[in-house]
Amino acid sequence: MTKRNRRVAAAITAATIVMTAGGSGWAFSEMTDEERAAIEAAQEAARAEADAGEEEATEMTIWDGIYTEEQALAGRSIYGQSCNACHGVRGRGTPGGPGIIGNVLDDKYFDVPLSAYYDYIHYQMPKGQPNSLTSEQYADVTAFVLSLHGAPAGDMELPADYDVLDTIIITHKPEE
Ligand code: HEC
Repeated sequence: MTKRNRRVAAAITAATIVMTAGGSGWAFSEMTDEERAAIEAAQEAARAEADAGEEEATEMTIWDGIYTEEQALAGRSIYGQSCNACHGVRGRGTPGGPGIIGNVLDDKYFDVPLSAYYDYIHYQMPKGQPNSLTSEQYADVTAFVLSLHGAPAGDMELPADYDVLDTIIITHKPEE
């Protein structure tokens, strides 16, 4: 479940509990103290569950194989056409553009969701022609840039979907 779905599910659970407890048209104010306390406890539990769900959803990092090799390959040719000239073959920068991997990901983007980095590339890059590729092409080029950074390929295709990108965190390379 996505974060948003979890939150919605928790809200529905809480609302259902209130309606069920309310029965035939009771209002919250007409309930006994025990009934009210029970409902509040149930709502608290639903909220705690939603919070736990969010933590669980943010456990994925860029080091977990979050793009496929095929995708990085597609991204490489996009990079060659649209990014290379300014950021260099290895993403370390040229006089026309800064480095975009290494310390940039380790420091500037440390502990932020990959959605922020993807969003920057999508809506700021290529400089002078932002938003000029498809969302899938931006996902592919992001995958390739992550491969330049040393993040491994895996079974999951990096989607152009903010609900998923929000749950993938940019962290330092884990100790082996
Ligand atoms: C015409 C040169 C040019 C091209 C082409 C270009 N960039 Fe950039 N890029 C820059 C410059 C310059 C900056 C620094 C910010 C600014 O001036 O807008 C930048 C910034 C960035 C950043 C942010 C770095 C940071 O420190 O936050 C990323 C990521 C990035 N570019 C990725 C890309 C990708 C991926 C492509 C290809 C789709 C691309 N750029 C194409 C010039 C370029």
